[in-house]
Amino acid sequence: MAEQELKDPKGGASRRDFLRGGGFAAATAVLTGPATLALDEAKAAEAAALAEPEVKILSGQIPISLKVNGKVMSCTVEPRSTLLDTLRHQLDVTGPKRVCDRASCGACTTIIDGEAVYSCTSLAIACQGKTIETLESFDTGPAGVPHAFHQHDGLMCGYCTPGFVTACKSMLDKNPNPTLAEVKAGLDGNICRCGTYMGVFQAALAAAKALKA
Ligand code: FES
Ligand code: FES
Repeated sequence: MAEQELKDPKGGASRRDFLRGGGFAAATAVLTGPATLALDEAKAAEAAALAEPEVKILSGQIPISLKVNGKVMSCTVEPRSTLLDTLRHQLDVTGPKRVCDRASCGACTTIIDGEAVYSCTSLAIACQGKTIETLESFDTGPAGVPHAFHQHDGLMCGYCTPGFVTACKSMLDKNPNPTLAEVKAGLDGNICRCGTYMGVFQAALAAAKALKA
């Protein structure tokens, strides 16, 4: 009876028929939706593969060449090797020191393409083709930064000193006439646990003066 009440008196589709029909349409949409989506995703992946350069997974020992202090040096490293470890353990360049090994103290500071960077968090393979400078290449004469640190007591235990000397050289290469405030800002990536900051800042200003002499 209830079914009859739902019938269209003119013989058209009942409300139930309509719902059944709608349900079928919805089921069709559900069945075809993921298939269409999968097709689209496959096309998108194919387009991305064509657009993107091939990603290479590096593993094991790989040969690299680094330009350190004007010399091209070759060795083999694991892809995860840091520049600091590669310099110290593979190339015998021991100026940069490992202290925190996590980009907070600055003892490992190295100059790469003119910028002071933490070599403990730089990948050696990423430094190929770049110019790497360590304090082994610095002028140790009276016009050099190391001499100024010596003259102005810019160190106590010395752990931080190679990093400070390197950061100072990088700063003076860019700004040969710094103010005290600029020296402090230029060396603020380096930490001295002995607190020799006043000696370090005086050494930096003296080195700037010596450069102009
Ligand atoms: S050893 Fe690299 S920042 Fe401390
Ligand atoms: S001189 Fe000791 S940490 Fe700087």
